[in-house]
Amino acid sequence: MYVLGIETSCDETAAAVVGPGPDGGTVVLSDVIHSQKVHAAYGGVVPELASRSHADKVVVTARAALDQAGITRPDGVAATAGPGLLGAVLVGLCFGKALASGWGLPFVGINHLEGHLLSPLLEPDAPAFPFLALVVSGGHTTLYRAHALGRYDVLGSTVDDAAGEAWDKVARMLGLGYPGGPVIDRLATEGRPGVFTLPRPVVRDRERQATLDWSFSGLKTAVRSVLQAHPEAPAADVALAFQEAAVDVLLDRVLRAADQTGIRSLAVSGGVAANSRLRARLGELHERGTLRVTLPPRSRCTDNGAMIAHVGRLRLLAGQRDGLDLGARAQWTPGA
Ligand code: KG4
Ligand code: ZN
Repeated sequence: MYVLGIETSCDETAAAVVGPGPDGGTVVLSDVIHSQKVHAAYGGVVPELASRSHADKVVVTARAALDQAGITRPDGVAATAGPGLLGAVLVGLCFGKALASGWGLPFVGINHLEGHLLSPLLEPDAPAFPFLALVVSGGHTTLYRAHALGRYDVLGSTVDDAAGEAWDKVARMLGLGYPGGPVIDRLATEGRPGVFTLPRPVVRDRERQATLDWSFSGLKTAVRSVLQAHPEAPAADVALAFQEAAVDVLLDRVLRAADQTGIRSLAVSGGVAANSRLRARLGELHERGTLRVTLPPRSRCTDNGAMIAHVGRLRLLAGQRDGLDLGARAQWTPGA
């Protein structure tokens, strides 16, 4: 089964075609992304501009995905139905439904987070269920135990900002551009280790026990305090101190979850999984045999159409279908 997947939940208009791969797996035949540049001037995504740009680009992007895959008509269509900016999600969702309806094809609406969560299954070293899945993006930071398609337990989540949001906000404090993640990533390589040390915030339950949750807003406040106390501090030193602390807390929860569940297989996805320092630390854990880590290439960590087409194909093969009355959802826990 060949499936066209469409993604428009935030500031990327993306479309991809997937088909049958070796050993019953899925292979990506095309993966086309148009990244919206209009938001850079505003320091963050402007929802209305995002919707308009999606409306402008969704048809050419989907056409390019079909052309590059050498397919004139797929066997099914999948589109992100949430979570995300409602107006933005609606563009891809309505287009996907219209396409499926016009072609008389089955349609399925996909949870964007489930797209990220299962995207490591597209890799040659795909994990087997059950595995731990860390989804770290600009809007979400959650650690799941994945049992099967559609069956995920949330083990830990952020209680305030998402990890990517923290990277973006710290970049803004340092007067760097948007999105901040890649800029901090680059700048931190010029930073001097140990000049500043930031706290590693712990989230506790009522019994004062450390949970598997994160607080990135506390870390952001700590960066602000350093900048107030040392206005002359080189941005690279602060970027490095922030990144070290953020990566430390991300990995702390993952390692504790592995101990608590006995699951040693970890799949990482979402925009922040493109971070060099996080990737290097995950690589060390994998080399040492502490965890078996599946980490997609950078282009598959940030938003893309392949992850939506992939979950679409799995769901359509499992016989799932959505009606043309399916609506967009701003909030949506994967598997719910
Ligand atoms: O998954 P994604 O493309 O979109 C969402 O669904 O949110 O993630 C975007 C987020 C942004 O906050 C961006 O700053 C962050 O991922 N990001 C990074 C890096 N590349 C993207 N964060 C840290 N280091 C990076 N290299
Ligand atoms: Zn995303």
